[in-house]
Amino acid sequence: MNRRTDPIPFHRPSIGRAERRAVDRVLRSRWLTTGRETLRFEEEFAEFIRCPNALAVNSATAGLHLALEALGVGEGDQVITTPYTFTATAEAIRHLGAHPRFVDINPDDFQIDPSGVEALLEKEKTACLLPVHLGGAPCAATHLKSLAERRHIPLIEDAAHAFPLRIEEGETSEESRKAAPFAGTVGDAGVFSFYATKPLTTGEGGMVVTNSKKTAERIQIMRLHGIDRDAWFRYEGNEADWEYYVVEAGYKYNMPDTASAMGRVQLKRAWELAQQRKRIAKIYLSRLGEYSFFEMPPAPSSHAWHLFLLRIRPEQLTITRDEYIRALSEAGIGTSVHYIPLHLMPYYRDRYGLKPGDFPNALDSFSRTISLPLYPELTDRQIDRIIETVIHIGKSHFRLS
Ligand SMILES: Cc1ncc(COP(=O)(O)O)c(C=O)c1O
Repeated sequence: MNRRTDPIPFHRPSIGRAERRAVDRVLRSRWLTTGRETLRFEEEFAEFIRCPNALAVNSATAGLHLALEALGVGEGDQVITTPYTFTATAEAIRHLGAHPRFVDINPDDFQIDPSGVEALLEKEKTACLLPVHLGGAPCAATHLKSLAERRHIPLIEDAAHAFPLRIEEGETSEESRKAAPFAGTVGDAGVFSFYATKPLTTGEGGMVVTNSKKTAERIQIMRLHGIDRDAWFRYEGNEADWEYYVVEAGYKYNMPDTASAMGRVQLKRAWELAQQRKRIAKIYLSRLGEYSFFEMPPAPSSHAWHLFLLRIRPEQLTITRDEYIRALSEAGIGTSVHYIPLHLMPYYRDRYGLKPGDFPNALDSFSRTISLPLYPELTDRQIDRIIETVIHIGKSHFRLS
């Protein structure tokens, strides 16, 4: 082993003995599909984020689809969202035959620009707002919620990156900060991802949360074939175990107990893991922030730090972002790019006739961004090596004039 050259992966999930034991317990029980573990996971998740309804699903993509459907989005509707996201956000809109209407991000923080949302709401009939808390930082959810309320349309938060994240707005005391609502609970529904790289992981999985009983009931039915009861009740409830009614053509989006068991352990560790990500982000901020050729991501006091989005300043460098990534890769450091904006993707570009310059801030951020490794399993030695390498590449390509 050579610690100076061993590859540092872009991500490595924090899976310990407790997760392995929990999954093993489910395997031994022989109950592999949605059951007791999933019910407990939902109850514990709901309690954690102080929301009455949490519904476990097998991905956030499925959760977004269900939330949009339950909140009435359908064929031909327009849903406002950001181009600076993973395709799942917009794809869920398309699954219902509705259309994403993109609004550019702010130049400085990757989040959807609320004034752009307001301008589009003035111009066009809109069925729903679907902002993203990008990278684990808060978008202007409360402001967007008031815009949506004024027009009597729902707001769904894509909180795939944002667990656990409190939406603090000028809160000063520790007490008021702790009382601030969690991302995902500000709007009519919120959707979390438990994909392998996410702050809380079950391998694949997600959770939809909502304050509305009616929305929760609709999602509950639609996530399992449009059947009026979940499988566990079907087999273990008091009523005839073979009896069920199909009331809709629903989907197969339920979470298996193996995943939920893992999720329950991860949920118990959520603050501890978040603290560790925050610690690493702070080190990056203080050590990389000294260099003019880097632009640091905003660091609000409440931040889930799912991603560390470093932007380079190409005008100060003789190297492009892509070359920077290649140099890091050659030094054994895994990075990624979040995101290639959706308006550059052939499907959205061609279907909606979009041009690269239509969303200049998204285009600019994309062209300059590198996501650095950010996960609790990084050792101090690895963190040092990442920082030193990132700085070294920048310094050796610094444009002197
Ligand atoms: C912003 C955003 N929304 C939704 C999703 C979809 O999550 P999942 O993989 O759980 O379906 C992702 C996945 O990376 C994402 O980044």
